[in-house]
Amino acid sequence: MKNISLIGMPGSGKTTIGRVLSKKLGMKFIDLDRYIEEKAQMKITRIFEMYGEDYFRNIESHSLLDVLDTENTVISTGGGIVTREENMIFLKKKTIIFYIKRDLDIIINNVRFDNRPLLKDKNNLYKLFEKRSMLYEKYCDYAIVNDASIYDAVDKIIKILQ
Ligand code: S3P
Repeated sequence: MKNISLIGMPGSGKTTIGRVLSKKLGMKFIDLDRYIEEKAQMKITRIFEMYGEDYFRNIESHSLLDVLDTENTVISTGGGIVTREENMIFLKKKTIIFYIKRDLDIIINNVRFDNRPLLKDKNNLYKLFEKRSMLYEKYCDYAIVNDASIYDAVDKIIKILQ
């Protein structure tokens, strides 16, 4: 089977869903943000503080290419992966893309913001969503609503893959 990738807003559940999904399918799991932190030996917040967003996006694009070479893998991406078209062209070629959709008000109430540099101001979540939701819809192969439990979202993905 092709690799699987998860895209969507910060806090939509990509990492948790990806981890559970990979176990259920007997696949490997890579969280792109964690991969970047290990590669850069630095927290993402720190990369943003020291070098800015463009620099982060460059590392993100290179790291994506690294991880796309592994087989039998579920990849959870950072929310901004859609901001560069070339990322999405590679993802589309090498993975089945699932867009994880979650209500923004639920995200605001449930998610940690201190380790997400673009969300220091919670209202920025709505602004980012305005810019990105069309892109998530455009590039995904399937959209999944994460409005119940993680296991429910994982089951929706598995049903589609069957
Ligand atoms: C970002 C989302 C983060 C991380 C970085 C930038 C974004 O990942 O890649 O802070 O631009 O939305 P999550 O979506 O896992 O929070």
